[in-house]
Amino acid sequence: MRFLTSFPRNVWLLSFAILATSQVDYSQYVNPFIGSEGPFPGQGYGGGDIFVGGARPFGVAKVGIDTTAANWSIAMLNGGWTPDGNVTAISMMHESGTGGAPKYGIVPQMPLTSIAPPVNILDNLTYSQPRVGQDTASVGYFKTLLQNGVQIELSASRHAGIVQYSFPQREKHVLVDVSHYLPGSPGDPNSQFYTGGEIQIHASRRSYSGYGTYVGGWNNGAPFTVYFYGEFDTEPETARVFRGPNTDPMRGYQGLANGEPSFPVYGNLSDTATSGPMNDRVGAIFNWNSNGESHITSRVGISFISTERARSYIRDEIPSWQLNDTVESAVKEWNDNVLSKIQVPLDDTANLTNVRLLYSSLYFIHLMPSDRTGENPLWESDEPSWDDFYTLWDIFRCTVSFYHIFQPVYYESMIRGLIDIWRHQGFLPDGRSGNWNGLVQGGSNADNVLADAYVKGLRGAINWTDGYAAMKTNAEVVPYNTYDPTDFTASTKEGRGALADWLELGYVSQDRSTRCISRTIEYSLNDFALSQVAAGEMSSDQEKYLRRSAGWQAIWNPEVESLGFTGFLAPKFSNGSFNNSGYDPLVCYECEWHAYTYEGVPWEYSFVTPHDMQTLIDLTGGPDTFEARLDLMFKPNTSIQPLGPNGAGISTLMNIGNEPDFATPYLYNYINKQYKSVLQSRQLAYQYFRNTNNGLPGNSDAGAMNTWLLWSILGLYPIVTTDVYLLCSPWFPDLNITVNRDKTLRIRATGLEEGYFVQSVRVNGEVWERNWVEHGDLMVEGGVLEFELGGEMVEWETGSEPPSPGHLSG
Ligand SMILES: *[C@@H]1O[C@H](CO)[C@@H](O)[C@H](O)[C@H]1NC(C)=O
Ligand SMILES: *[C@@H]1O[C@H](CO)[C@@H](O)[C@H](O)[C@H]1NC(C)=O
Ligand SMILES: *[C@@H]1O[C@H](CO)[C@@H](O)[C@H](O)[C@H]1NC(C)=O
Ligand SMILES: *[C@@H]1O[C@H](CO)[C@@H](O)[C@H](O)[C@H]1NC(C)=O
Ligand SMILES: *[C@@H]1O[C@H](CO)[C@@H](O)[C@H](O)[C@H]1NC(C)=O
Ligand SMILES: *[C@@H]1O[C@H](CO)[C@@H](O)[C@H](O)[C@H]1NC(C)=O
Ligand SMILES: *[C@@H]1O[C@H](CO)[C@@H](O)[C@H](O)[C@H]1NC(C)=O
Ligand SMILES: *[C@@H]1O[C@H](CO)[C@@H](O)[C@H](O)[C@H]1NC(C)=O
Ligand SMILES: *[C@@H]1O[C@H](CO)[C@@H](O)[C@H](O)[C@H]1NC(C)=O
Ligand SMILES: *[C@@H]1O[C@H](CO)[C@@H](O)[C@H](O)[C@H]1NC(C)=O
Ligand SMILES: *[C@@H]1O[C@H](CO)[C@@H](O)[C@H](O)[C@H]1NC(C)=O
Repeated sequence: MRFLTSFPRNVWLLSFAILATSQVDYSQYVNPFIGSEGPFPGQGYGGGDIFVGGARPFGVAKVGIDTTAANWSIAMLNGGWTPDGNVTAISMMHESGTGGAPKYGIVPQMPLTSIAPPVNILDNLTYSQPRVGQDTASVGYFKTLLQNGVQIELSASRHAGIVQYSFPQREKHVLVDVSHYLPGSPGDPNSQFYTGGEIQIHASRRSYSGYGTYVGGWNNGAPFTVYFYGEFDTEPETARVFRGPNTDPMRGYQGLANGEPSFPVYGNLSDTATSGPMNDRVGAIFNWNSNGESHITSRVGISFISTERARSYIRDEIPSWQLNDTVESAVKEWNDNVLSKIQVPLDDTANLTNVRLLYSSLYFIHLMPSDRTGENPLWESDEPSWDDFYTLWDIFRCTVSFYHIFQPVYYESMIRGLIDIWRHQGFLPDGRSGNWNGLVQGGSNADNVLADAYVKGLRGAINWTDGYAAMKTNAEVVPYNTYDPTDFTASTKEGRGALADWLELGYVSQDRSTRCISRTIEYSLNDFALSQVAAGEMSSDQEKYLRRSAGWQAIWNPEVESLGFTGFLAPKFSNGSFNNSGYDPLVCYECEWHAYTYEGVPWEYSFVTPHDMQTLIDLTGGPDTFEARLDLMFKPNTSIQPLGPNGAGISTLMNIGNEPDFATPYLYNYINKQYKSVLQSRQLAYQYFRNTNNGLPGNSDAGAMNTWLLWSILGLYPIVTTDVYLLCSPWFPDLNITVNRDKTLRIRATGLEEGYFVQSVRVNGEVWERNWVEHGDLMVEGGVLEFELGGEMVEWETGSEPPSPGHLSG
């Protein structure tokens, strides 16, 4: 560790409090733009869909710009910021890394230098602004310059934001359009809409408050209301509320108002404009007459409870009008609570690219979910409240295991929040956002999350009686059909839509259910998860769920042949016979809601049985065939299924751009050929994860993608629902990570300059012959993990292969 000698862009930060607490300003190594572009330069398509702006770890407010879509068929507005869109607003809430129809982009402001025709403040296309030059972003800070000459700088606290406008010598207006939100592409049935709201300008004209109500946005969420309180440091000369017809064509309600956007009607007598449910747009416009250049700063608080609460967040969290103060406090929070908890050498020998990948990845995995404790409008509870699990389908695979070791306090709180959702709403979520469960892409993966926490001993204030009961609801109660247009056959909101099949047949059938293969494979792991928790909470259930966890074997068709291998997961009818006509495991037909497999082809899903690799290896023909099959996954130009944005630019069957394959490169450990896991995972990491705008191979998915890289950097990979971590190969010669609140795990490596293949391993000083460790070995009390690395590919492991705790043969 060293004191900084070279000054990064935030020179001014260093002279303040940061040095006092965490010594090093790690935030300088965060590149907030990683994943902001896809493989096609200048476009977001196929990229990370990340949020760029001001945020706190798991904060409610994510303050950043919203932009227009250049081309709807490849638009990715999900994080608000896009490389090529024009700015429509700065808004207070965003998601990070999601796909599908955008959600949030709400509680906005927009600085304008003219509001005269052709500008119509009810039509963003008449006032949206291209940006000039490059945007600047660092932890807790964002800056952009609009074509109209207005510079925007911003930062965020947990429930509020601060925006500083530097206006040129022109007119000065700030538009607050309560009806602003991030739209979905035209015709997308899961788009978000505004349904009503209110805005009131206070007597001094310096402040305003109100609420907006929004519906939909990917998870088909019910209307939710966000209250706001905004204020300016400089009193406006004039401030007017306005209203105008809502012309957005909401599905099912097109009659609301037809045609082109019309012009606003300003309120003359009242300082309040109110609408809804389901009618006019409302907003306000603030004007300053000063002629010169000037700064105008605004603070905005948000709350799901009340405008008073929104106001209190400004008072408590952003007491200063100096943008710098909030930036500084953001940097301090990120350093203290996140970044400084991993330490690597930062001297002249450091590979700064790798340092940046490390700290940037840590940053991105803390943007979601949102800690809404104290902000739950739906029920009274002493339990914590969390939202924006978007989705567990993405983060169950390796992100929650990272939270477990790295953020145990937040993680315990998240799990209590998940269980409280079941307690008050009947089901655990798989996705949840805007206080609403949905969508469920595969299994009920909260089961995996809870089991992973349980087997690793997380107890605290979690009520595991209820936790297990919540899992059991998923396993036994068929959720009512939500008739979601994306899939009319069963619920997409929560639970297991194809549970009726699963209970009756032990697998999900092709003729009665969609996504029959991927749901069978996910339900199998979900039931294994139940058996893991049942072992401690309801031992009479353990055997039953373990048996059910072998369901995937029922759809293993030993006759299907592909690329020289036989035996694959395959569609099976409810009468028990396979559909052999024309089935090809290399394709999934769109890979979406109506396909056999979701966002991946059957070839890929035929590796995803983490609880019983032993049976899988047997079914594929034994270790040698299994190895050859795995090898083929990494062969370029093998994939024939276009996966859209979920695999853009990837030609191997192995698709690191999407979650189902996350564990696949590590599966060589199960045949004691760990060197191949190292080879494949490292090549994927180097090829697809870079410290550049297009440095992610697909959607960040709430940080899921970034966590995959983090584990690679540590040289470990967790097997979810079990307490096992596979050993891989660390990137740094020395790394300390704080685990289990205040313990240190030290990961050391020698020989990095010769290569990254493992020659030998020691765990807490002891020579280690297995290519895996258990949670208790290193993550409870901390410990020391030492790797001797080199250029030679050796089969160094002589101990037993990683366990298959769900092993059940045929
Ligand atoms: C942005 O605005 C410019 C100028 O008004 C226009 O030429 C361009 O097409 C717009 N781009 C997008 C993505 O809306
Ligand atoms: C929009 O993108 C699609 C897909 O890349 C492309 O086919 C189409 O030509 C684009 N449309 C325009 C107007 O550029
Ligand atoms: C902007 O205007 C377009 C065209 O009217 C509309 O589709 C979109 O929803 C509006 N809002 C934003 C934030 O882009
Ligand atoms: C406000 O006054 C203008 C003219 O003074 C009028 O055209 C407009 O309809 C009035 N608006 C409302 C909401 O009463
Ligand atoms: C932050 O503070 C520094 C030093 O006081 C100053 O140079 C800089 O302009 C400030 N930035 C903003 C955005 O106020
Ligand atoms: C890790 O911790 C050990 C023990 O405190 C210390 O000697 C070592 O320098 C640390 N390594 C790094 C990279 O900070
Ligand atoms: C740093 O590591 C990267 C791999 O992430 C490698 O490509 C690069 O060459 C290394 N840089 C230096 C200066 O060693
Ligand atoms: C767990 O919650 C249930 C009801 O929700 C309650 O009956 C039970 O006492 C709780 N257990 C503990 C240990 O608090
Ligand atoms: C099972 O059902 C499928 C589809 O309905 C049908 O084609 C097949 O012949 C049936 N098989 C048996 C053994 O009944
Ligand atoms: C069997 O699978 C093929 C290829 O996936 C499909 O086209 C066909 O409709 C299926 N047959 C039945 C009876 O569902
Ligand atoms: C994959 O296909 C592309 C385009 O057809 C070709 O340029 C490339 O050489 C191929 N790569 C391999 C490894 O076969």
